[in-house]
Amino acid sequence: MPNTPVLDRSVQWRINAGTIESQELDYGSAVQAILSSGLATAVERKISAGKEADVYLATYNGSPIAVKAYRLFRTVHRGGRPIKTDTMSWIAAHEYEMLRMAWKGGAPVPAPARRIENMFSMRYLGDDDGPAPRLHDVRLEDPDTALSEILRGVEAMAVAGVVHADLSAFNILVHGGAIWFIDFSGAVRVDRLGTAPWVRLTRAAESVRNGLMALQVYFRRYGVRIDLEPFVGRVVARLDTGGVLRGLS
Ligand SMILES: Nc1ncnc2c1ncn2[C@@H]1O[C@H](COP(=O)(O)OP(=O)(O)OP(=O)(O)O)[C@@H](O)[C@H]1O
Ligand SMILES: [Mg+2]
Repeated sequence: MPNTPVLDRSVQWRINAGTIESQELDYGSAVQAILSSGLATAVERKISAGKEADVYLATYNGSPIAVKAYRLFRTVHRGGRPIKTDTMSWIAAHEYEMLRMAWKGGAPVPAPARRIENMFSMRYLGDDDGPAPRLHDVRLEDPDTALSEILRGVEAMAVAGVVHADLSAFNILVHGGAIWFIDFSGAVRVDRLGTAPWVRLTRAAESVRNGLMALQVYFRRYGVRIDLEPFVGRVVARLDTGGVLRGLS
């Protein structure tokens, strides 16, 4: 469960009616939002500006922490006090929950700390010089070990009920001689399959295959091959504990 309920969805009609407009927060307001949420006691600087979210290096009582804040607040256009709408809170809640499940399952991910509305905090991977580099940006000394850590992590996440749907050398950080998965915004939850389990499982299987294909391209520079299909088959078998896909074939 997310540790804070998402915001009141009743503001949706006002968005639809055009009485609320989107507004990006400037840096000072974003810092203020993080501080007043209580996720951090000081904000050092922004370390990433993505499509939908910014990531900040902050501290909580002196200890470094990373805060991911989804952008696009909406504020009331005509009259009334500002309202932060809930869409970004839903995405942040989903990402936080997926991160938490992966972490509980023992996968190498930054430990989640807390979520408030559209923001959450987690362990900071990096040092005083800056955040840990992405897999894409490093020259690996031991690519075979890195690859087997990645494959083990993907399996650990599958067992924990999480499929990272955006797996690539851009969403893996290299820190302390190990690999770490980040960016679970699009992750698929597979421990509860809902009313159409084969739909979710098929999507999950495709996500695993696509992620592995992206990594296969990356690892080609080291001349390391991924034996894709047996691995995907094994992960899908782990996901499909009820034998839903087996039953269909
Ligand atoms: N826990 C962390 N510790 C250190 N740096 C981090 C951490 N999480 C994210 N970052 C930094 O922020 C960058 C972007 O993070 P992430 O991939 O989660 O967001 P994003 O790609 O901007 O998200 P999206 O594009 O899906 O909105 C990472 O490449 C990394 O540099
Ligand atoms: Mg990313």
